[in-house]
Amino acid sequence: MDQHKSRIPNKLVTINPSSRTTVNDYPTIVRQTADRVRAYLVRIKEAITQERTDNLKQHFKERECPHIDYDSYAETFSYVYFLDNFWKAAAMFREDPPPLSRAVVDMGAGSGAISLAFLASLSATLGDQPWRIKMVLLDRSVRQLELAEHILRETTAFENLQIDLVFQKGELTDWRPLDGRVDCILLGHVLTENRTSTHAILKQLTDAVACQGKLYVIERTDDTVWEAIEEALAQVPVPRNDMISVVRLTDETTDLPAIRSQSEVASRYVALHMPEHLALLHVLDRYFRAWKERSIGLLRETFAQDAEYYEKPNRPPLRGIDEIEMYWVQRVLPQRDVDLKLGSVAYGHSYAIAEWQATFSLENSRLVLKGTLVMHVDCPSERATALREYYISEKWPTN
Ligand SMILES: C[S@@+](CC[C@H](N)C(=O)[O-])C[C@H]1O[C@@H](n2cnc3c(N)ncnc32)[C@H](O)[C@@H]1O
Repeated sequence: MDQHKSRIPNKLVTINPSSRTTVNDYPTIVRQTADRVRAYLVRIKEAITQERTDNLKQHFKERECPHIDYDSYAETFSYVYFLDNFWKAAAMFREDPPPLSRAVVDMGAGSGAISLAFLASLSATLGDQPWRIKMVLLDRSVRQLELAEHILRETTAFENLQIDLVFQKGELTDWRPLDGRVDCILLGHVLTENRTSTHAILKQLTDAVACQGKLYVIERTDDTVWEAIEEALAQVPVPRNDMISVVRLTDETTDLPAIRSQSEVASRYVALHMPEHLALLHVLDRYFRAWKERSIGLLRETFAQDAEYYEKPNRPPLRGIDEIEMYWVQRVLPQRDVDLKLGSVAYGHSYAIAEWQATFSLENSRLVLKGTLVMHVDCPSERATALREYYISEKWPTN
């Protein structure tokens, strides 16, 4: 391996400290919903064989999820994993509450564990406020959707929610929002089964979430799909909360020995928070695409005519789009093999802040730049009016 490669940290990911809770820390409505699910699972116990349970558990011991025929394993999957996945999602929504949503899509919904935890958590957040919500459960397995319909119809009893449930057979990658953007997208334990398209899926789905909406991803803590997720999210300029959560189960919740052997469930999740003004996100994304593609066209679409560009904090700015273009022609266009990664991103009312790392070749060197930028944006015209960069660079000979 090249000397410089081994020394360049290529991750800009921060995982927040993990949270630990017990089921008693959750609102009554969440616990009651779990109780109803348990009663349902006890009723389907007859149809579950030990052999199929063991087969499925064996599959999920792997850190890379193998192909599973969910039409044939739907009941067994629900029996073994529904409650675990419900509590994992409940823990996620406790830390990062569901947005006040009118339209939600649960992608790869399976038998509905994440949807149900979402609805119970939303109901708890709303208190007495009545709320109408449309929830689409999308899955490629008809049997999973049929089971989801049974379970949700039997276990949803939220006085404040009027829920329009839609069960849709389909492929995740073919899904497109029909009535404009949705407020929330849920991806529970489904990217692990779609790892080669993780990048495309996350890009396509973040483009489908409305301002102030959220997109949640939840996977097992040690699943290798997190590498693909981190890589994909390093290209998406959306603020995120990355957490590990552990829920300790009480004796009552562990009274179905066939369901679980451990007394706590742990999971990792990431929640993407869309900004109040999507224009900020669009301009920031365009700026980074202009750099990656070394495109003067995209650069000119990023900045206002009279924008100010502070390439170094202690020097006067470049003034106006023509000066900015001239600087790019001299300093940015000669860069080769540009690799750009984003770390933390935050949005104010009319500005964006982003942590970034750029690695590229220039003449006989490989350069690594690490920095933070502040970009002010005129939202109606979607143009940056000012950019201030703060960065350091390191140079490695390529020989
Ligand atoms: C492990 S289960 C997770 C179910 C649920 N989200 C949960 O966390 O309990 C994965 C589900 O995703 C569905 N699935 C996987 N890849 C899919 C795709 N590309 N399009 C649609 N459904 C998919 C499977 O049929 C299965 O029901």
